[in-house]
Amino acid sequence: MSFPKIASLKDYAAFLTHLETLGLDLPVDEQVTQGPAAPLAAGLVAGSYKIGNRFCILPMEGWDGDHAGLPSDLTRRRWRNFGDSGAKLIWGGEAVAVRPDGRANPNQLMLLEANIGAIESLRHELENAHQERFGSTDDLLVGLQLTHSGRFARPNAKTTPEPRIAYRHPLLDRRVGVEDDGPLLSDSDLDQLIDDFIAAGVRAQQAGFAFVDVKHCHGYLGHELLSAYDRPGKYGGDFTGRTRFLREIVAGLAAEAPGLSIGVRVSVFDFSPYHPGADRIGEPDTTGDYRYAFGGDTTGLGIDLTEPSRFLRLLSELGISLVCTTAGSPYYNPHIQRPAAFPPSDGYQPPEDPLVGVARQLHATAQLKQQHPELIVVGSGYSYLQDWLPNVAQAMVLTGSVDSIGLGRMVLSYHDLPADVLQGKSLTRKRVCRTFSDCTTAPRNGMVSGCYPLDPFYKDRPERQRLLELAKTNG
Ligand SMILES: Cc1cc2nc3c(=O)[nH]c(=O)nc-3n(C[C@H](O)[C@H](O)[C@H](O)COP(=O)(O)O)c2cc1C
Ligand code: SF4
Repeated sequence: MSFPKIASLKDYAAFLTHLETLGLDLPVDEQVTQGPAAPLAAGLVAGSYKIGNRFCILPMEGWDGDHAGLPSDLTRRRWRNFGDSGAKLIWGGEAVAVRPDGRANPNQLMLLEANIGAIESLRHELENAHQERFGSTDDLLVGLQLTHSGRFARPNAKTTPEPRIAYRHPLLDRRVGVEDDGPLLSDSDLDQLIDDFIAAGVRAQQAGFAFVDVKHCHGYLGHELLSAYDRPGKYGGDFTGRTRFLREIVAGLAAEAPGLSIGVRVSVFDFSPYHPGADRIGEPDTTGDYRYAFGGDTTGLGIDLTEPSRFLRLLSELGISLVCTTAGSPYYNPHIQRPAAFPPSDGYQPPEDPLVGVARQLHATAQLKQQHPELIVVGSGYSYLQDWLPNVAQAMVLTGSVDSIGLGRMVLSYHDLPADVLQGKSLTRKRVCRTFSDCTTAPRNGMVSGCYPLDPFYKDRPERQRLLELAKTNG
């Protein structure tokens, strides 16, 4: 299966025709406005904070901390780039584990007591870079993403899963080597973990972050709890049980870290896990009754936003105004999470035109934004739009379908795209992310992440050669 490459669509009409062929009705503006009155330059207000424009940097880890959970020069370079991007909202920087067993890899950062100063220095790097280029950080809002990787924890060795799970899963257990109830977190384990999240939130506040994201996405623990329908006890079953983890963290933070704002990044829909089928094209593991997808319609392949909408209402009731929408998981259905033309080495060929995946995320976000106008909603999944990202971004903001445009992979290849768009410069085409997925393939094979094909800094690193060989092996 092959799909027309976005780079081959030479003008607006060609892009529109392509959308039409796919039956997609994405909003897309022909011209992107520049200057202070431009829609993407409009400010937002989040409580007592100002956010100076409509671009947001999504959290992206680089698998490049040390074993004590401290940042390296590569981490610092990435955070400086985030500050130099021109975006005025920094959603979390990257996933930072609240304790050692919650790391997704042995190089993930950790917010332990001993690490507060180093994590604070990352924020300084970012803010200094922003100040140097844009002259002020008054309207820059910086948060930190807090995580426990749950089922996808690999805290000690990159090749050794050490899952801690919310419930036994008929399809995912075997993927991470779960054979019995040993990795199940008990209610008292979760009580302890809530305390660990609260302690990490207090440290994030000491490190000067304006908000923490209590991560509920991508198959990690917070997200898995949202689909713990079958889990007995106080953290599972009905909506109240499945959201208790979040509610208790929020209550604890209000008591222990007054003044710290809270955001939640949530996978607003999920599908069945996928695997490579014939010709390595992705196929769902099940097409029957699949009840473990939060925001799914029980077929494993469709969306029902009833519960995610209720979840967003709960966030409002809890006084949370910052929400970042995403979908699925990079481990078991990456095509719905980060639509790409080329799969990572452990992935599968896209079963649909990746634009369909982009539109799915954008539509779900628009629907939720319309139902919850009081929230500041940051969207994700824009990078595959490539040259058309600014045009769709502006149209999404103008139609009230989203408040802020979250950028992931694009920032690894072209970190200051927001600054260029806001200044009305044409995009530098050779820096536009073409979704080659090397930034995912590298860490899946034990290497640090980065944009090896397009960022000259990573192009020159020795890992590039190994990635080229892996690409040959995978055809
Ligand atoms: C290398 C890499 C690292 C990522 N790390 C995180 C992370 O730490 N936390 C998180 O919530 N999402 C993470 N993501 C997902 C992105 O934030 C984003 O949702 C995804 O890339 C889709 O957006 P895009 O189309 O702009 O790339 C990561 C993605 C990539 C490519
Ligand atoms: S490696 Fe670079 S071009 Fe490829 S998906 Fe990642 S950021 Fe985009």
